[in-house]
Amino acid sequence: MLVLLVAVVSAVVAEKSAVDLSRLPDGFLMGTATSAYQTEGAWNEDGKGESIWDNLVHRNPNYSVDCSNGDVAADSYHKYRRDVAMLKELGVDVYRFSVSWPRIMPTGDPTEINDRGVAHYDALINLLLENGITPMVTMYHWDLPQRLQDLGGWANPIMAYYFEEYANVLFTKFGDRVKWWVTINEPEHIAAGYEPALSLYVPSVAPGLPGHPGVGSYLAAHTMLLAHGRAYRLYNTTFRHRQHGRLGLALSAVHIQPASDAPEDVAAARRLFQFQVGWFAHPVYSAEGDYPPVMRERIDCRSRMEGRWRSRLPSFSEHERRMLTVPDIFVPIGSADFIGVNEYTSSLGRSNESAGDAGASMDLNPQWPTAAAKWLQVVPWGFREILNTLAKEYPGYPIFVTENGYADLGGLNDTDRIHYIVSYMSEMLKAIYVDKVPVIGYTYWSLMDSYEWDNGYRIKFGLYSVDFKHSDRKRRPKQSARVIAAIIKRKRLPQWLNMTAESIGKSLG
Ligand code: NOJ
Repeated sequence: MLVLLVAVVSAVVAEKSAVDLSRLPDGFLMGTATSAYQTEGAWNEDGKGESIWDNLVHRNPNYSVDCSNGDVAADSYHKYRRDVAMLKELGVDVYRFSVSWPRIMPTGDPTEINDRGVAHYDALINLLLENGITPMVTMYHWDLPQRLQDLGGWANPIMAYYFEEYANVLFTKFGDRVKWWVTINEPEHIAAGYEPALSLYVPSVAPGLPGHPGVGSYLAAHTMLLAHGRAYRLYNTTFRHRQHGRLGLALSAVHIQPASDAPEDVAAARRLFQFQVGWFAHPVYSAEGDYPPVMRERIDCRSRMEGRWRSRLPSFSEHERRMLTVPDIFVPIGSADFIGVNEYTSSLGRSNESAGDAGASMDLNPQWPTAAAKWLQVVPWGFREILNTLAKEYPGYPIFVTENGYADLGGLNDTDRIHYIVSYMSEMLKAIYVDKVPVIGYTYWSLMDSYEWDNGYRIKFGLYSVDFKHSDRKRRPKQSARVIAAIIKRKRLPQWLNMTAESIGKSLG
């Protein structure tokens, strides 16, 4: 009891006096993020091949709520100079963007490289560096070459080898200048492309193969983990000694609050964490490797009860488990240098044996404020919680917030976004200073409004608006852009959460 009291008092003291909780730590990396399909457009220009997203939205023009697609998007393929100018205006340290696999390997086949695609990313990377901005490159943000999908996509284990060869091309072409790599963005969402929509939080995405519920996503996830492992080992054996970069996964993580104090809801919330984050994090970041034991037990058992000879959850061979976990000279454990986390929202976790393999459901909390995306509720303290959970579950890894952002329906006077950013970042700083969670960077999603998958262009996450109705795709800064610029410049969060965006803008000058 006494120990608890001392801990509480010291936390409060630390929070109130010792450290300045509004200051960004020295060396903290601030930036913004985008992805290729959502911003680039130029879907069939300069030798780019078809991706599974091109294929999905052309085959099914009603896929997005506004029947739109990413054919032109924000036209960043042509307007990347303006994008870099915006990043310069914001003063960011780092820009996270993704390379479109079919832009540099049109069919995914390693014998066929599209030099014009490579030249595009060379130009972008060089321009960023000339402006003092560190590139962070996501190797895979959902746009598989369609020709690889024709071989089965991520459900085919051969894809791990194709990904390794793609990684080899990226490291060879860009690794002299790129020192931050995210191998795969939100594998949980990619896996959902091989299932019917998994939940409110994980909608249906490309390739849109709902035919094998409870099977397809586990197969796809397994291949992605092996793909990540192969790329990581390749980097260590062949590139790291001269390129000195860092690699990680970007995992989507919703903080799950037990819906009640009942032990079954508390256990359900823990299970949901493992089925959502542990699914990918445990094989890569834990000391023992393999899937979380609770997934293994439940899926094996349910598979037996369904009369199957094999579990629906694939197994790693000993060689594969070791590839993903065994220490080497570069890292103490695992197969990554940092944990990338995409966190936007929290949910309520409830025990519900009829809700899939986890036996638990994730629900909205009617009491939490909402945003334009139906899954996004504004729960800043949940951000601190999830950062703590990650640090406890997978100790020893720096954590990079690869995405965090707010969706509205548009407008330059985006007070709600400003409140979201400041309140979420303020919880992140508590996690850093009070809870000692090693968060090293934050890239806001997103630099600009872009194609938001099934939500089309209806909802907006950007710091800059984009005029999607005109071919010039004019960008304009929102008030939130001014606030982020001020945060980066002053290296501290503003104190004035209750001011209007207008007056915040004015007070920043
Ligand atoms: C995560 C995804 O990585 C990104 O593509 C998406 O736009 C944001 N979440 C917002 O939904």
